Amino acid sequence: MTLAFRQIKRIDSGCVTYLVGSQETGECAIIDPLLDTEYVVEEAKKAGFAKITHVIDTHTHADHISGARSLARQFGLAGVHMHEKSGSKFKTIPVKDGQAIKLGNHELRFIYTPGHTYDHVCVLVDGSKLLTGDTMFIGDVGRIDLGGDARDKSDRLYDSLRRLLELADSVEVYPTHVGAAHHLGNAKTSSTIGYERTGNGALKALSDREAFFKYMTEDWPPKPPDYQNIIRLNKGEVSVP
Ligand SMILES: [Fe+2]
Repeated sequence: MTLAFRQIKRIDSGCVTYLVGSQETGECAIIDPLLDTEYVVEEAKKAGFAKITHVIDTHTHADHISGARSLARQFGLAGVHMHEKSGSKFKTIPVKDGQAIKLGNHELRFIYTPGHTYDHVCVLVDGSKLLTGDTMFIGDVGRIDLGGDARDKSDRLYDSLRRLLELADSVEVYPTHVGAAHHLGNAKTSSTIGYERTGNGALKALSDREAFFKYMTEDWPPKPPDYQNIIRLNKGEVSVP
């Protein structure tokens, strides 16, 4: 029943990759790998996994080129698990809200949380650890201004966050970026639903949709350089140079 769980931080970028595995069956999932995948393979080996059996992208990233496809190719997998709305031209294994992957006795359940993007999923591990991707950060949430309609995305994120807040206070929160995005400077690398319920500025704005829309559309840092090209690369519309 031993769960392997690793948070793999890239200090230079603030991006975080996760490894979740079953030590009994040797199955191991990688969530949100960066393009240079060697660091993930090394970490899997260190954790005792000879093979990566599942690769998941929580959403179509706009700030970095995903390593998910090359990792899936390297390990001969059928594709990358992504939400069915990803629109990726790469081979994906489309997932829906509520669907789960089993790694031995462990369960990775997908929760569809549109808002940051239209294809975002969070991953709930054994009902107790929530990989929040860019939906919920520590003290903040992911921006909505990298494509799509701001009002629509704000409303979707509002609903998604309220849904995450139905989880128990004890559920641990593990985002794909640490350091947050809006009110920078949070030094924590994991949190809990209980802590975020009271300590997260964006979640405080969930009192009504207007207050949340205001929060989501004012005072954000500049957009990541080249984000439109990064999205095209991650969707397979152009190839990685
Ligand atoms: Fe993102």
